[in-house]
Amino acid sequence: MARFDVPFDQKSVAIVTGGESGIGRATAIRLGAAGVPVVLTWFADRAGADAVVSAIVDGGGRAGAIQADVGDEAAVEALFAFAEQRFGIVDLLVNSAGLNMSGVMLPDMALAQFDRLLRADLYGPFLTCRRMVRALDGAGRGGRIVNISSIHECAPRPGGADYDAAKGGLAQLTRTLALELAPRRIAVNGIAPGMILTPMNQGALDHPDELRRKEAAIPWGRAGTPDEVADLILFLLSPVADYITGTTVTIDGALSLTVAQGA
Ligand SMILES: NC(=O)c1ccc[n+]([C@@H]2O[C@H](COP(=O)([O-])OP(=O)(O)OC[C@H]3O[C@@H](n4cnc5c(N)ncnc54)[C@H](O)[C@@H]3O)[C@@H](O)[C@H]2O)c1
Repeated sequence: MARFDVPFDQKSVAIVTGGESGIGRATAIRLGAAGVPVVLTWFADRAGADAVVSAIVDGGGRAGAIQADVGDEAAVEALFAFAEQRFGIVDLLVNSAGLNMSGVMLPDMALAQFDRLLRADLYGPFLTCRRMVRALDGAGRGGRIVNISSIHECAPRPGGADYDAAKGGLAQLTRTLALELAPRRIAVNGIAPGMILTPMNQGALDHPDELRRKEAAIPWGRAGTPDEVADLILFLLSPVADYITGTTVTIDGALSLTVAQGA
């Protein structure tokens, strides 16, 4: 059940990339409960995606899932064609699919690793945004996009050249598209999570000591949940947020404010 009622346009159709897991999963389920038809992508976990679709349909919503590598132009075309055929023109897009940092230092980082991460975390949002905007242009309609970035779009980490570069690029993509698309009434915003308890933090989920150590570094005293991020995403997708575009909202329990402390 949604934690607040958000009024969506009856004609709205959503795509959530990475909807098989974590933040994307929580968002797809909330959108489905809010009455928005949702198409989610899966990459490796078909059963996970099927479970999300079943949860939505069992709750009275409409949903479908398709395998897609978001960094592949043909796969993104097939994703939108599937959504349009099932539910109609897509006007709500959540780019949640992504890979985490490799932890490899620059001298050892293979070009293939850098390329793999940028394809998922940066090229993916470029391709999905472009395809959505082309269709909305054709239909003369507006829409709303939320790109899931990270606090590491600003805060660098050794070993994060791949991830931090991709998320930094995604922040600028979000801002550029917001400016470019405002006259067409297509809003583009980002969300920068801190530590959220999803499979991306499997180590902390599996090891209570690691979780406690990491949570001790967060001023709010705990990690966030996928549902908390999903609530924020739903707000930014909703007509209530009509005048918000071109910004990135941080959701991190003040973790990103702890840089340059203590010395
Ligand atoms: N969990 C966190 O602490 C955290 C913090 C900051 C930002 N984020 C961002 O949030 C987003 C969602 O992550 P999550 O925490 O839900 O992790 P997650 O691992 O649960 O979900 C990410 C999903 O993206 C999919 N994916 C990876 N590469 C893909 C590709 N090329 N094409 C299609 N799908 C692909 C994965 O299969 C997975 O289902 C990511 O963009 C991540 O960078 C997460």
